[in-house]
Amino acid sequence: MNPPLRVAVTGAAGQISYSLLPRIASGAMFGPGQRVILQLLEVPVEKAMKALEGVAMELDDCAFPLLAGMELTDNARVAFRDADWCLLVGAKPRGPGMERADLLKDNGAIFTAQGRIIDEVASAEARVAVVGNPANTNAMIAASTARRLPAERFTAMVRLDQNRAQTMLARKAGVDTTAVTDIFIFGNHSPTMFPAFEHAKIQGQPAATRIPDRAWLEGEFCEKVGKRGAAIIAARGASSAASAANALVDHVRDLCTPGAIHSVAVPSKGHYGFAPEVWAGLPVRTTTPGSYEILTGLTLDAFAQSKIAATNKELVEERGMVADLLG
Ligand code: NAD
Ligand code: LMR
Repeated sequence: MNPPLRVAVTGAAGQISYSLLPRIASGAMFGPGQRVILQLLEVPVEKAMKALEGVAMELDDCAFPLLAGMELTDNARVAFRDADWCLLVGAKPRGPGMERADLLKDNGAIFTAQGRIIDEVASAEARVAVVGNPANTNAMIAASTARRLPAERFTAMVRLDQNRAQTMLARKAGVDTTAVTDIFIFGNHSPTMFPAFEHAKIQGQPAATRIPDRAWLEGEFCEKVGKRGAAIIAARGASSAASAANALVDHVRDLCTPGAIHSVAVPSKGHYGFAPEVWAGLPVRTTTPGSYEILTGLTLDAFAQSKIAATNKELVEERGMVADLLG
């Protein structure tokens, strides 16, 4: 067996982590042959640390064969030390009536501090996945503080949006979700994101052939994918947690699977008209475990270009709002 992977998870006593940690410990993220050590970070508040103890007790009670150890801490240096993967979940969620960007003031600073510490103490091969909102911009903030780890190692999650879009296309076409492929998310994890239906396939055929309703694809479909997070907050009274945890499992598992093609928010480098310095959801192909290349050469019609321009504008504005936090 391989040596255990060290997986740091922040916000480990929160809602998402409650669904996430058992999936990591059961092998869903890194595979059935890979042991893991969970390095769990919470805020230095008695209630949070007590809750974290309870979570760890439950993980113990699962007797997971792959769980090789757990460390519970309120010290980021301890949590990120030698970590192979740093899963940055810990941050404030939005409530009803808020946009994710409204969280920037509260959450942005978390990522300056954690990015710097990860860069100092994590494994030389460390990968970072950001979930805390606004995720794209938080990943950019964390990466900006790093001097040792390359920016490409810092990704943010748009996989929940991809999964939502996949299910919506499948429902509309009356097929199983597995019949829908190549649905990619471009841009911000916000209502401006663009689920690029023109490249999607349903049972191998262009989605627009199987769903010959351009008005629905451009209108209701894009809007519902973009606003799904708010719809869940309205229904549940709290932001998505189980589906977010599931999406993070998909995000990391596919980043560890050479050949996998999926949507990840990465430094755009100017592809598809995004400003080079923003973190944009883009289609990528995993090359070697933890590394990827951006899929290039996908055609974008005038509608797609206008959607990308709008989501890029928002990302550039968010970057401007956090200029003082960038390292
Ligand atoms: P939660 O409030 O249930 O849990 C967050 C936890 O993070 C809390 O236990 C809190 O104590 C902890 N925390 C706060 N600051 C921390 C820090 N500096 N270090 C370590 N821990 C810290 O929230 P949640 O529902 O788990 O959501 C977490 C974040 O994920 C939110 O920002 C939410 O908006 C975001 N989210 C993103 C997506 C996505 O698709 N990218 C999906 C769902 C939720
Ligand atoms: C989601 O998409 O469900 C999360 O980002 C939570 C939110 O604030 O919408």
